[in-house]
Amino acid sequence: MLVLQIKDPAEIERLIKENSDLKRQIAGGGASSSYQIPYEDLEVQDQIGGGGFSLVYRGFWKGTPVAIKKWFDPNHSEQMVQEFREEVMTLAELRHPHVMQFLGACMKPPHLAMVTEHMPFSLHHVLYQAGVELDRKKVVGLAQDIARAFIYLHSRRPAIVHRDIKPANFLVDRAWKVKVCDFGLASNSKAQAGAGTPQYMAPELWDNKAYNEKVDVYAFGVMLNELVAKEPPFAGMPLPEVRAAVLAGKRPEVPLSCPRVITDIIKKCWAADSTARPSFLQINDMLKEASKAL
Ligand SMILES: Nc1ncnc2c1ncn2[C@@H]1O[C@H](COP(=O)(O)OP(=O)(O)O)[C@@H](O)[C@H]1O
Ligand SMILES: [Mg+2]
Repeated sequence: MLVLQIKDPAEIERLIKENSDLKRQIAGGGASSSYQIPYEDLEVQDQIGGGGFSLVYRGFWKGTPVAIKKWFDPNHSEQMVQEFREEVMTLAELRHPHVMQFLGACMKPPHLAMVTEHMPFSLHHVLYQAGVELDRKKVVGLAQDIARAFIYLHSRRPAIVHRDIKPANFLVDRAWKVKVCDFGLASNSKAQAGAGTPQYMAPELWDNKAYNEKVDVYAFGVMLNELVAKEPPFAGMPLPEVRAAVLAGKRPEVPLSCPRVITDIIKKCWAADSTARPSFLQINDMLKEASKAL
């Protein structure tokens, strides 16, 4: 008989800890216990965003300023709880300087809340409300940060396709550092076509065709143009007309004053043929060149 002899007390302690960690993980339904936050540790303050099944608040976690995304549904539908779990599990895995930092979650119904670092602005706010001058150099800087975040997301296996790139889903701090947020559509189980924000949707999504991470590249192109034009894509156009326009190859107007290096990137990104669109690695290289040329 083979007897496993462990004499080192530190090793025994490590094995006991590993065993109890595993037990707790199983009890938590797959969610790691290491990031559970008791609801009492949170102080929820004013609402800063959200809609549908979740609202985002500013608040404190044991005295530290944080953002708190709370899920609620008076009927406590299984679907809502599932969507909450998926968003938490997706974000909890991610570590990147340009992805909103996950801090923990309260996973015990009725209190379902995700806690993340708090950022002062969204890119939508910076574009349309803050009254700040967003010059071309700043636009290229922001775009480079975003491209790096997406190199990371798309290189994960399975790839994380965000599927809702638009200014409201990027957060900006006072040093112009930008971070991706809102992984609500990114979890793979909800990968039904058509979801997302229509004005940023690639033709293959309007057509209910198979799609891949290149839908993010398309939306990035639309958003890059928006950052230059400072005007929402297809503003005021009814959705059936947006659909017809996009499928006919029409795109939002690129301002005539847009530097050619940037116009080139925008047009490559929103190509009708998804295989003709660049990867974020290539976009990052093109942006590097563009920043030298500005
Ligand atoms: N960490 C955060 N710091 C500051 N504001 C945030 C934060 N997270 C979200 N917000 C604000 O709340 C809004 C909605 O959050 P989001 O995660 O995109 O939820 P939804 O799924 O409802 O779109 C964002 O557009 C942003 O304005
Ligand atoms: Mg959002």
